[in-house]
Amino acid sequence: MKRSASLILVVFIVGQAYCDLYLHNPRGSNNRLNENTATRANANRVFDSQNNNRGGYNVGDVGQNPSGNNEGNQYRMKYFQSGPFKTLQGEQGRSILTLEWTNQHGCGGNENSDPQKQNCHMIIQYMCQDDADTPVGDRDTLRNGVTTQTPDHNRAQSLTETEAQRNQRKNNNVKTNRALQESWDWYDKCYMRERNKGLFTADQKLKNNNGLGYSSAIYTRENPNGNQYGYECPEERDQFPYWHPTPWTDIAVLTDNTSLCQHFQQESFNVKPKGECVELYGNGNRKYWSRWNNEAECTANGGQWIMFSSYMEKAPAYTNEGSCVRQTRGGYRHVWAVPYDTANINQKECLVVADAPDCRQADYSRSNHLGNGINGENLRYDWILPYFPSMNTKRCVLRMRYNISTDDYAPFAINSSQNQNLIAGIRSPVEQNPYVDVGGRSALRMNINTNQYGRIFQDRSHVFKMRPRPSGMQNQRLMNLNVRGKRGNIVQVYPAVEYDFVPNDLRMTEADLVHIQWTGSNTHNNGGGGGDGQAGDEGQGKDGSDRNNMVQIRTKNDNFPVPFEQSNMWNNSQIVWIYHGKNNINSRNLAVSMATSGYYRCVKKSECPENEHNNYIVETKGKVNSLLNNAPASFEGAVLRFTRGTYHYTCTRNNNFTNRSQKGTITVS
Ligand SMILES: *[C@@H]1O[C@H](CO)[C@@H](O)[C@H](O)[C@H]1NC(C)=O
Ligand SMILES: *[C@@H]1O[C@H](CO)[C@@H](O)[C@H](O)[C@H]1NC(C)=O
Ligand SMILES: *[C@@H]1O[C@H](CO)[C@@H](O)[C@H](O)[C@H]1NC(C)=O
Ligand SMILES: *[C@@H]1O[C@H](CO)[C@@H](O)[C@H](O)[C@H]1NC(C)=O
Ligand SMILES: *[C@@H]1O[C@H](CO)[C@@H](O)[C@H](O)[C@H]1NC(C)=O
Ligand SMILES: *[C@@H]1O[C@H](CO)[C@@H](O)[C@H](O)[C@H]1NC(C)=O
Repeated sequence: MKRSASLILVVFIVGQAYCDLYLHNPRGSNNRLNENTATRANANRVFDSQNNNRGGYNVGDVGQNPSGNNEGNQYRMKYFQSGPFKTLQGEQGRSILTLEWTNQHGCGGNENSDPQKQNCHMIIQYMCQDDADTPVGDRDTLRNGVTTQTPDHNRAQSLTETEAQRNQRKNNNVKTNRALQESWDWYDKCYMRERNKGLFTADQKLKNNNGLGYSSAIYTRENPNGNQYGYECPEERDQFPYWHPTPWTDIAVLTDNTSLCQHFQQESFNVKPKGECVELYGNGNRKYWSRWNNEAECTANGGQWIMFSSYMEKAPAYTNEGSCVRQTRGGYRHVWAVPYDTANINQKECLVVADAPDCRQADYSRSNHLGNGINGENLRYDWILPYFPSMNTKRCVLRMRYNISTDDYAPFAINSSQNQNLIAGIRSPVEQNPYVDVGGRSALRMNINTNQYGRIFQDRSHVFKMRPRPSGMQNQRLMNLNVRGKRGNIVQVYPAVEYDFVPNDLRMTEADLVHIQWTGSNTHNNGGGGGDGQAGDEGQGKDGSDRNNMVQIRTKNDNFPVPFEQSNMWNNSQIVWIYHGKNNINSRNLAVSMATSGYYRCVKKSECPENEHNNYIVETKGKVNSLLNNAPASFEGAVLRFTRGTYHYTCTRNNNFTNRSQKGTITVS
């Protein structure tokens, strides 16, 4: 195979496409749950990350001990939703969560001045449902589970399976001790639906589904063997915007080429209904799967091609089109449409729908580097959290994908007509490990895996909550101040990161609010099975335990905390909300809560006379360990308003000059 010299060069540079995506705030799981090993136990647990086995963070624990088999003892980050946007002006009422990640192969920046070696985009999405009372809930409830096993899926025995047989299959497969993000039905329909045969698959040989006699959407160029990852659908994973309904709501697309933004925004399921073939059981109930992936084949085979709508939540109070579409609660459109996951396809409902996703130029990051972007700033995106007009608490997960491709073929124009078919004389524009003639006597072999050529990486959060704002804090802008990182030195934690505050340089005004909150695990031992890195969890305090706190320091160059009497951080702040519901505690008690991660609430019993505080009083409770070993790993924290000034703070346990700096600054103007 001969190619022009310039093309050879391009291919050479991008040949080793091992480029990962790790989410650091909120903590990305990279498929970890709570294992105390350096490498994750199961790369198939929830989703296909294609990342290194060592990345990711364990799920947070509520207290000082591992949550073990009790999901109720896992900590779910609890962010306050935004307030209702339409009634507010400018940035008022926004809740801002700063997402931080690292991506290994670079992306974005100015096309002319920043050297780029690939095309790329990042897709940020979320999925929520009403929060269930119990930690686990029913079979479709979002959960982390308590084992690292992959959720089960057995395929239908035949295309004429009855509803009872399908129900039995689902009952047998779905176990509440395993993780669940996409539903079982989502994977089941992916398993049964023919794959889109118009897609470019290069020279990969995609298999047929066992026994069904056709190849389905679980087989893709990147996943030619149909491996199962949680209940994620591989075809949907690999393609965006997807052409069938999905359970995800799009937040943002960060791209190297903003001329694609219009395409991403117009085709987003947030704003554009998508079709799916629906067949019915003999009793008239909806079958959640169909073999047919297009309208013509669907209707020719007795199905109905239904256009479904995405939704953030339902608005059941509005029972007809007229009353529904007039609503603009929270600034969101309300549409009268068929929800994508409905049991009754003949019933339109009032749905609150998200706007088109934000789309912007990705900040520049360079190749072969899991680090920061320009000016040493972390790669980040400020997510404006949604407002849910129902005022219900939501249970959610965040998903981020990183898509890289090259110019060896036109990434958005290519299709199956260029799939390798030597009998018909068609060569794929990229081939597996090809040999190239560079003018010497022997050909050189290139590193090209066509299943990774044009490739997607992914990370997702553990389950978190978004709750409505209490009265009294509806209208202010609210910043989330959290902690990222896990236990260990910089080599041991890699490709995760060491501890730091996020954002560690927070700028706000006197009118803004800040919600300080953190989570940690008790099983981040990073023990044996180091894989290709160093195992171990060097650090202060009990092995495996993440602990955090916040105490004031005078300047960022100081390591020694300011004694409470001389501090002004806590007495210059006003408590708007606090985790134990006692806003009127004094600044000394606030300082003690922050310094002990909630181990104490009040210094004196007389200041917290209510019974519920009895176990948290300095006067009567046993001493907090000087390294916070007996303090809770997670802290629901407080929402504060600060008076003008600059406040520097540190974590007493993890900050260890010269090993590790965990410090932050709040600048209030
Ligand atoms: C593939 O793309 C070509 C050129 O754009 C187009 O003519 C053809 O119809 C496409 N084929 C399929 C299967 O989508
Ligand atoms: C990734 O980019 C390719 C173009 O190179 C596109 O066809 C595909 O749909 C994208 N997938 C995702 C998940 O972004
Ligand atoms: C950006 O995308 C547009 C639309 O697909 C395409 O025509 C253009 O060539 C792309 N620019 C670069 C530099 O890839
Ligand atoms: C401090 O850093 C050194 C050098 O990176 C490392 O070997 C050691 O384990 C670290 N100690 C702690 C307590 O993190
Ligand atoms: C907080 O305490 C500092 C130091 O004692 C003092 O200078 C400052 O005036 C106090 N602020 C308030 C609001 O009481
Ligand atoms: C800080 O890190 C150093 C280097 O690893 C370690 O020797 C020392 O014990 C640590 N300091 C504390 C207070 O733990």
